[in-house]
Amino acid sequence: MSDKLQIALAEGDGIGSEITQACLTAFEAAGCFEHIEFVPVEMGSRVFDAGDTRGMTDSAIDTIERLGLLYKGPMGTPIGGGGKSINVTLRKTLGAFANLRHFQSLPGVETVYSQAGVPVDFYVVRENVEDTYGGVEYRLTNDVVDCKRIITAPGCDQVHRYAFEAAKAFGIDRVTCGHKANIMKMTDGMFLDRFRQTARDYADIQTEDVIIDALCMNLVLKPQSYKMVVLPNLQGDIVSDLAAGLVGGLGFAPSANIGEKVSIFEAVHGTAPDIAGQNKANPTSLLLSGLILLRHIGMQKQAATIENALIYTLESGVHTGDVRGEKEPVGTAEFARAVADNLGKTPSERYAREVPAQDTPNFTPPERPRVNRMMRTYETLTSAIVGCDIYIETLLAPHDLAQRLEMICANTPFKLTMMSSRGTQVWPTGSVYTEVVDYYRARFELRDKAMTGRVGQQAPIFLFEKVGEKFDVASFQILKEFEGKRGFSLAQGQ
Ligand code: NAI
Repeated sequence: MSDKLQIALAEGDGIGSEITQACLTAFEAAGCFEHIEFVPVEMGSRVFDAGDTRGMTDSAIDTIERLGLLYKGPMGTPIGGGGKSINVTLRKTLGAFANLRHFQSLPGVETVYSQAGVPVDFYVVRENVEDTYGGVEYRLTNDVVDCKRIITAPGCDQVHRYAFEAAKAFGIDRVTCGHKANIMKMTDGMFLDRFRQTARDYADIQTEDVIIDALCMNLVLKPQSYKMVVLPNLQGDIVSDLAAGLVGGLGFAPSANIGEKVSIFEAVHGTAPDIAGQNKANPTSLLLSGLILLRHIGMQKQAATIENALIYTLESGVHTGDVRGEKEPVGTAEFARAVADNLGKTPSERYAREVPAQDTPNFTPPERPRVNRMMRTYETLTSAIVGCDIYIETLLAPHDLAQRLEMICANTPFKLTMMSSRGTQVWPTGSVYTEVVDYYRARFELRDKAMTGRVGQQAPIFLFEKVGEKFDVASFQILKEFEGKRGFSLAQGQ
């Protein structure tokens, strides 16, 4: 067996093979293949077409799990039908919990900021597995659908720790947490709280937090004021594309999906079917992702050397057709050749990277776990049941419904304390101007606070059954306190 570090390689669809070949040209010229070798794996449209809705073969998954590293080109997702996005499936099933993207102004890529002389150079770390991307959605009534937003303490800890570690490795001295904890006090609140907890282990790094809407405005007004931003999944998805817009589009934004065991390095753009097979595609995004891969495995020297050559090439006006420039555009292969020929050259001071000495991989492929790892953050909290929310499908007016529910719960440990529609309280107080839909939340809480800790889950389940005898119940949630603190949000207006 080879003693080189092996990396799974999926060229991808459309322009995938052209841009991958271009990147391999640069890697080869920089001497990377003395230490690493790529192992091709089968993924993408050919596998979808063969009827596998995962878009990847068992042997591809096996190789990626064994090697812990995947370098991939863009893959087409079948529109409609059963095929799911390979990217999302890979990130989620292999636990690649952090998405790292680097947004920097590049020479030759004109933007409003480059014209104004405003340098843009920052990273976004996006949580990659949880949040609404859990994809847990239901149609509850004729008119109501629901999406569960799952945020976990261990999930937050993983992504925050990665952001701080990456900041340390890149010499970044400030990390910003973006969130919406003023509104989503429990989910975003936990994301922010775990950020603050994790920050305690990184005393040399300054921290700040900013509400997501203000962050978006600030990024447009003064992008130079950010260095690394860590965000929950959906907010991170949106901010990543906003950030790509600041530096000239997705074509220049590299991406890495980092996991405890498996990490995936890919271009952000798609398969560009309109220019596939024409030697027109720009390999820059995939090459920059490859540089994150080289740095991830410890080949710092080759990464910096190739980055300097790439920037030097762009500065000298060599560009592919998607970039405006004074010179005639060159093809994908010619662009790669130019980068290879410029290895060892140094770009202008603003862009030049110091070339570290470290040039051999220090990455150890993962050991296959026997079972799924159980992650824990809060191992010893005590909790107690204090009530339940029962979601009811009905066209009754709030007061009529409340009257009936009060009768149903009369001989149980619970009393009706609140009803809401779409999260806004409509009973016992509220406004008749609040428009309601066919779906109410009825909150029942212990009549006697002294019963806290003495009521098991049978009591709310019994109440649920009793309500279910009279009404269509759409869903159910047990309410708990954790260490005496409310483990549920209040309704708007409560
Ligand atoms: P796209 O990114 O493939 O193309 C959008 C436009 O940008 C096209 O005009 C294309 O020619 C251009 N473009 C993209 N990459 C380029 C490059 N490297 N050099 C020069 N021009 C480039 O997005 P689209 O058309 O929405 O998606 C096409 C396919 O790609 C779909 O099947 C989609 O599912 C898939 N896709 C895959 C991704 C991935 O694997 N990471 C990400 C996004 C889309």
